[in-house]
Amino acid sequence: MKFYVLTLFPEMVIQGLHTSIIGRAAEKGILSIEALNIRDYSTDKHKHVDDYPYGGGAGMVMQPGPIYDAYEAVCQKSESGKRPRVVYLTPQGKVFNQEMAKEFAREDELVFLCGHYEGVDERVLEMIATDYVSMGDYVLTGGELPAMVMIDCISRLIPGVLNNEESAEFESFHDNLLEYPQYTRPEVFLDKRVPDVLLSGHHANIDRWRREQSLKRTWERRPDLLESAVLDKRDKIYLETLRRSCKDAESDF
Ligand code: ADE
Repeated sequence: MKFYVLTLFPEMVIQGLHTSIIGRAAEKGILSIEALNIRDYSTDKHKHVDDYPYGGGAGMVMQPGPIYDAYEAVCQKSESGKRPRVVYLTPQGKVFNQEMAKEFAREDELVFLCGHYEGVDERVLEMIATDYVSMGDYVLTGGELPAMVMIDCISRLIPGVLNNEESAEFESFHDNLLEYPQYTRPEVFLDKRVPDVLLSGHHANIDRWRREQSLKRTWERRPDLLESAVLDKRDKIYLETLRRSCKDAESDF
């Protein structure tokens, strides 16, 4: 997988991603991350990349030319001869999630366009952007952090990036349920004990307990996920018990 990031802050992206697990995968050649400085594609003698908005208004707008030329430079590098998808990071996009990460992980190459100032000239977006993606309903100073989050999330889905231990079968969002709580040594920490079942060695009971903890957590913290979760009869009965106990507690008041 090749990631290209079109940005005004290439060092931020490279330094942020070339550490830890993603850095290790890059060293192994499983993936590559290249940050292209949009300013390098400015034809202006002062290397300007932004200008005042037509029609007036606050702030500056990133000009189309340098962005278009940076993308063309990526296309020239592309070994496949295809024009890779371009993800434009914007709060006006579709909110990123694990499903989107899975879908992007199927690509061989991806380009991320990081905007700054008040935005990017609409014409270049119409010409090159294929996906508009948001990190959430809040406004950041630029698209670099969202691009880094996406690259991190997509990379760990690429075969060989995580080792066996890291790619634990169960993790948050498995089956659309949140992960069950984890415990390690010591057995007692400041008078708090590890749940007995985990010390019992009874694997079927442990599996059931973990499943119920996942259901309970999802119901308490992210009930919206339950709508698309894969639930069997036992799960549904357990959730019904939770709902009832909650109603009973309410009516006690
Ligand atoms: N750029 C600024 N804010 C953003 C957000 N919330 N998501 C993606 N890109 C952004």
